[in-house]
Amino acid sequence: MRKKALPALLFILSCSGSVFAQQNTGATDPIAQKVEALMAKMTLEEKIGQLNQYTSDRLATGPLTPNSSKYQEIKDGKVGSMLNVKGAKETRMIQEMAMQSRLKIPLLFGLDVIHGYRVTFPIPLAEAASWDLNAIELSARVAGKESAAAGVHWTFAPMVDIARDPRWGRVMEGAGEDTYLGSLIAKARVRGFQGKGLGNLDAIMACAKHFAAYGAAIAGRDYNTVDMSDRQLWETYLPPFKAAVDAGAATFMNSFNDLNGIPATGNAYLQRDILKDKWNYQGFVVSDWGSISEMVAHGFAKDNKDAARLAILAGSDMDMEGHAYLPNLVQLVQEKKIDVALINDAVRRILRKKFELGLFDDPYRFSNESREKKVLNAAENRKAAREVAEKSIVLLKNDNQLLPLSKSTKKIAVIGPLGKSSADMKGFWSVTWDNDHLVSLYEGLQNKLGKQTELLYSEGCGIKDTSRQHFAEAVATAKQADVVIMAVGEAFDMSGEAKSRSNIHLPGVQEELIKAVQATGKPVVVLVMAGRPLIFNWTADNANAILYTWWLGSEAGNAMADVLFGDYNPAGKLPMSFPRAEGQIPVFYASKSTGRPALDEKNTNYRSAYLDLPNSPRYAFGYGLSYSNFDFSDLKLNKSKLSQNETLQVSFTLKNTGKYAGEEVAQLYLQDVAASVTRPVKELKDFQKVFLKPGESKTISFTIDKEKLSFYDQKMTWGAEAGEFKLMIGNSSDHILLQDKFELVD
Ligand code: NOJ
Repeated sequence: MRKKALPALLFILSCSGSVFAQQNTGATDPIAQKVEALMAKMTLEEKIGQLNQYTSDRLATGPLTPNSSKYQEIKDGKVGSMLNVKGAKETRMIQEMAMQSRLKIPLLFGLDVIHGYRVTFPIPLAEAASWDLNAIELSARVAGKESAAAGVHWTFAPMVDIARDPRWGRVMEGAGEDTYLGSLIAKARVRGFQGKGLGNLDAIMACAKHFAAYGAAIAGRDYNTVDMSDRQLWETYLPPFKAAVDAGAATFMNSFNDLNGIPATGNAYLQRDILKDKWNYQGFVVSDWGSISEMVAHGFAKDNKDAARLAILAGSDMDMEGHAYLPNLVQLVQEKKIDVALINDAVRRILRKKFELGLFDDPYRFSNESREKKVLNAAENRKAAREVAEKSIVLLKNDNQLLPLSKSTKKIAVIGPLGKSSADMKGFWSVTWDNDHLVSLYEGLQNKLGKQTELLYSEGCGIKDTSRQHFAEAVATAKQADVVIMAVGEAFDMSGEAKSRSNIHLPGVQEELIKAVQATGKPVVVLVMAGRPLIFNWTADNANAILYTWWLGSEAGNAMADVLFGDYNPAGKLPMSFPRAEGQIPVFYASKSTGRPALDEKNTNYRSAYLDLPNSPRYAFGYGLSYSNFDFSDLKLNKSKLSQNETLQVSFTLKNTGKYAGEEVAQLYLQDVAASVTRPVKELKDFQKVFLKPGESKTISFTIDKEKLSFYDQKMTWGAEAGEFKLMIGNSSDHILLQDKFELVD
């Protein structure tokens, strides 16, 4: 049973207890010995310097506090890390400044490498749609390699926040709504970034963020308050963080939001009790940008000094651009408001990572220009980006098998504001502000198609336009073509940090443009490029085919062309439910039944339902089509009762009954039918992505053990309860094709 939040005094005792325990490890651990030897030479000011992180002047990823002395402060040993510094040359130059300090402690260089460094990969939400953990790990691996070759030691990724509100712009940066899928993806990304381990020249530190519950900001408004039950926190929001710890994530970032009245940055329950004590986490925690000083605006700290006190007490080890630790911690120690042991603990954690990265052996080891030239934008990196992009595309609709298109089509019209856009393909968190080549849809089609096909183009309208003045031209273009490909969606800066939207319909007049083009009677394929689930009901009802392509990165256009012409058979599945209307938000599959479930959408009287809409989303979690068809049959359970220490083997036959080779994601859901606390109507507990040639079939097996049946009971104790479980297997959370039940016995 986990600990409850502790009263302040008890907490300080418990945290200095864990700090003390850490000090004792020094005797046997060679890195700890080096850390101790170095710390013995450090003044209190130098120690506090290690906890201080500034942004470079080159890029601000938050509100900037002017500071003309930061480079002098590096030379004075008052800075432990810089963010937004990149490139072998620039990192070397700034590291040289640190080498002028008394103890020559190297800086850590951190950067938001969220979906690729030089080669841009699909946004994380898109990659999550691949349900392909190897592909996701590969994407992070390439990003890790490129960043490390460019002098970067540390990425602020993965974002492992569960997100169920598509109004929140940061959904693009996470893995969607589901805890199980999100936890596996968290691990895959950590493994990818950190490769074979810190110290290797192609490995960078991962950072699991934002600890915690940032994804549940009220009303989907960024930075907003989070108010949630402990059950929801432990059951839904914390597991991906625990998964990141288990995968060895070197660092954590706390978050901007307050959680049940306490800002995460000043939250000892989260950072000390859970992370550092219960989970025994040995890495360090960086604040989010300015989140220490923002505790004043939260109304939690009296002033910046108070904020520094609260943050260090709560376990925030490094101050990112908060300008709170450096000016205040010395005085707080002198005034005995904080114990120096807290500072020592934070410094130890940070220095350990610098040793693990090998920076004390050679502070410039990642800043090698010739290696940088070789690694960045290497052909194999672009190849990986194309593969991952193909896997991220979700086929939402394909009436009369309009797709794949034939490569001998005579005339194709590309219509819509994103048809020739390359800039938007980069997505929000791209750090490729120099030199990356992003392939637009139009270019991808040109690359794919030979001379026999004529490509026509008309923009039709801008992304946010309210004017229909260019519709006539678009319609005229469509009329000349055999098939129309429409490219609609969001601009790259419409989803991301501080990009919450109350209206998540297709922006501007884009859906009107689709209507106008569709009225020509030509076959229309709609490609939606966006950073979040959008609402486009008319299109969903009327377009012939729809591909959700998100923002796919450097190889976007090539990957889209591969899918459009059948060189890759789409297999993506939505990692987040798509609402029919904003009024349904949050809508997610793992909901509770309620006492009056809306069993029949037409009969809503005295039911948990809407008068004006079904409860179901427009597209459900786990949904996505293929050019092929897959048949699920012959479900077998090796027993109908299992005891707590047994496992249950489930198997069934999956057959490709279509014309194309392709992959299907078989999804296993469970429901605990009656328990001591109400349980979701279904929860994803396993899945397999299986490749099958036409006509081929395979036996697919899943193993169910106690862990898959467990939850937090009324006393918040983790365990499985005896009783009946419903087992469901399908190709989407709303398309269950096989089901059975079994019983857990004591
Ligand atoms: C604020 C964001 O919330 C965080 O995710 C990011 O890593 C930092 N800014 C640094 O850019």
